[in-house]
Amino acid sequence: MKKEPFFTHHLLQWFKKNQRPLPWKGEKNPYFIWLSEIILQQTRVEQGLPYYLKFKKAYPTVHDLANAPEDSVMKNWQGLGYYSRARNLHAAAKYISTELKGKFPDTYEDILQLKGVGPYTAAAIASFGYDLPHAVVDGNVYRVLARYFGIDTPIDSTKGKKMFFTLADQLLEAKQAADYNQAIMDFGATFCTPKSPSCPTCPMKKHCTAFTQKSVNLYPVKSKKIQKRHRFFNYLIINDENCIFVKKRIEKDIWQNLYDFPLIETEQMLEGRDILKEKFLKKLSGGEKVEIISKSAPFRQILTHQKIVATFWEVKFFCGICAENASYIRTARKNISQFAFPKIVNQYNEAFQNNSLILETF
Ligand code: ADE
Repeated sequence: MKKEPFFTHHLLQWFKKNQRPLPWKGEKNPYFIWLSEIILQQTRVEQGLPYYLKFKKAYPTVHDLANAPEDSVMKNWQGLGYYSRARNLHAAAKYISTELKGKFPDTYEDILQLKGVGPYTAAAIASFGYDLPHAVVDGNVYRVLARYFGIDTPIDSTKGKKMFFTLADQLLEAKQAADYNQAIMDFGATFCTPKSPSCPTCPMKKHCTAFTQKSVNLYPVKSKKIQKRHRFFNYLIINDENCIFVKKRIEKDIWQNLYDFPLIETEQMLEGRDILKEKFLKKLSGGEKVEIISKSAPFRQILTHQKIVATFWEVKFFCGICAENASYIRTARKNISQFAFPKIVNQYNEAFQNNSLILETF
């Protein structure tokens, strides 16, 4: 058998024996398929699974999702990260519910028009929901194909992308598009993994270029490394009689529409408290007396393009905070769990609750 049909045949055989039982498999309702695929973008199956079940239960139809308040959608999404997915999901649900009268689009091109749906997700929905012959291509697929076919064209180059998309479509078994796509997803995620793949028991190893040339760890090839931007967040924990101030992140930036605390971003990590007090807090207090009580040890969160270091400063304003900050919401500290926060803020909140904060007091 030639290298290409050998691959497809053995991949499908492998899938029959080894597929993971997951609640969206065999699902034919395109709305549920769409939910699962948006949740699984940039998310491992184990992490995404409870969110899928939660969303299905909270929003059994696309109209339920469309009519839900944005804050509750964001709250249900909390902890999954990449929050633009939730905003796009909600916007697309409104579009399907009103413009399309609830009828989910049923061609690859129309599915691709939905906000937050790229070629990978459109191919997944088109094949799982409608048996349409579109092959999925993502990080897992690049790796599997690069290894098996020994392709050293960088996967982040235009030439590489074209090459992998063409090859993926050739390999797809058109009559079994759904099984083929699910098979390559599962194979990449559980078997042909980035580190320590299961080569000794692989049914394709005989024809796998990387395996036969003992160069599995050299594939896939990438040309660029993402340069991450470093950001330093100073959060103000403004204590005011068991109340605290939170604010909604409305700016076009990370974590849009989530909540956090009054924030001062600086170019560097602030060492002492003097600069914070002189340069920033005086303005916020309108020149009135402010006291810095403590500073937390730094919390860190790594995003795809940014590294965030957050320090939480407990401060006391003696005459209230300046009126221009009317967008701050005063809330009882015990009620803050009703807001959807980014992970780094939740970590702080949890440490505060467990009394495990590492603090420098002044
Ligand atoms: N990742 C994205 N879609 C997936 C699916 N349908 N099954 C498993 N992992 C996935």
